[in-house]
Amino acid sequence: PGLNAVAKAAGKLYFGTATDNPELNDTAYTTILDNNRQFGQITPANSMKWDATEPSPGNFTFEGGDVIRDLAKGNGQILRGHNCVWYSQLPDWVAFGNFTFDELIAIVENHCGTLVGHYRGQISLSTTCSNRLVLTTPIVFTFARQMPGMLLMALNDDGTFREDIFFNVTGTAYIPAALRAAREADPHAKLYINDYNIEGTGNKSTALQNLIKELKKDGVPIDGVGFQCHFEVGGVPSTLVENFRAFEALGVEFAVTELDVRMTLPETDELLEQQKEDYQTVVEACLAVPACVGVTIWDFTDKYSWVPGAFPGWGAACPWDENLVKKPAYDGIVIGF
Ligand code: XIL
Repeated sequence: PGLNAVAKAAGKLYFGTATDNPELNDTAYTTILDNNRQFGQITPANSMKWDATEPSPGNFTFEGGDVIRDLAKGNGQILRGHNCVWYSQLPDWVAFGNFTFDELIAIVENHCGTLVGHYRGQISLSTTCSNRLVLTTPIVFTFARQMPGMLLMALNDDGTFREDIFFNVTGTAYIPAALRAAREADPHAKLYINDYNIEGTGNKSTALQNLIKELKKDGVPIDGVGFQCHFEVGGVPSTLVENFRAFEALGVEFAVTELDVRMTLPETDELLEQQKEDYQTVVEACLAVPACVGVTIWDFTDKYSWVPGAFPGWGAACPWDENLVKKPAYDGIVIGF
């Protein structure tokens, strides 16, 4: 029936995938991507990032992002915006800029506000149902479910704040500034903090929980948490569910936003079997916690996975192989739901 179909039958909002503009002329690939029984949500891997959307000060370019937006719309898929602020894929004028506090806050506000405002919802569709936002009309593209993955990697693994340009110039002031600007630009957009190595309990997860408590205490808009979930085979944290529940208890929704499970190459039957179990485990954890709205994989095929480029010697991280054939991991997802 398709991964989105089984996810929805299990009560989740969607099963989704990242995609990227250069892949869209591969029709064997887009045939699978465009099937909204397989994917009910898509995330642009790169085309809404800062270097792509504001390459020089105040000059915004949304061509690439708009292509993904139009694709989602045409396919009846939810769009996740990704992302407003993080330390990577910044244009040089931001990464190596020489800013005062006030200047950089204004730059962050303008970037987030313009980006989120450009994709502001045409339709307001959300209603609250058993403590969770659901779409009144599922097969409609809506920015009401558009969820900018904010502030990616604001934290180091030990739970201290990452010393990127934003932190060095503004301390943590850029975080509420970004969130408030985004909320103002689109009151219906779900604002998420999206990070990695926060999937299990530990210092970084605790630090993010503290940050969320503080934002809420200060009345700063924050709706959700994105758990990236870039895992190694056999490396899914055993505290996944416990950790998810801790975030749910803070009153935020959350999602698995970038799931992939990489292995050392060459792939073996044993590794593929363990990978199947790992995908299943993550899906089951989302199912176990009502505040988990959905699961997104970081592209669906090994053909276009970011893993071999980012982690030399590793790969085969996705549920479809390089020839667009389903792997055991696909069945793991289905079984998980
Ligand atoms: C990755 C993209 O997939 C690559 O194409 C790009 O070269 C680097 O970024 N966490 C994130 C994503 O939040 O934006 C990253 O995407 C993967 C790690």
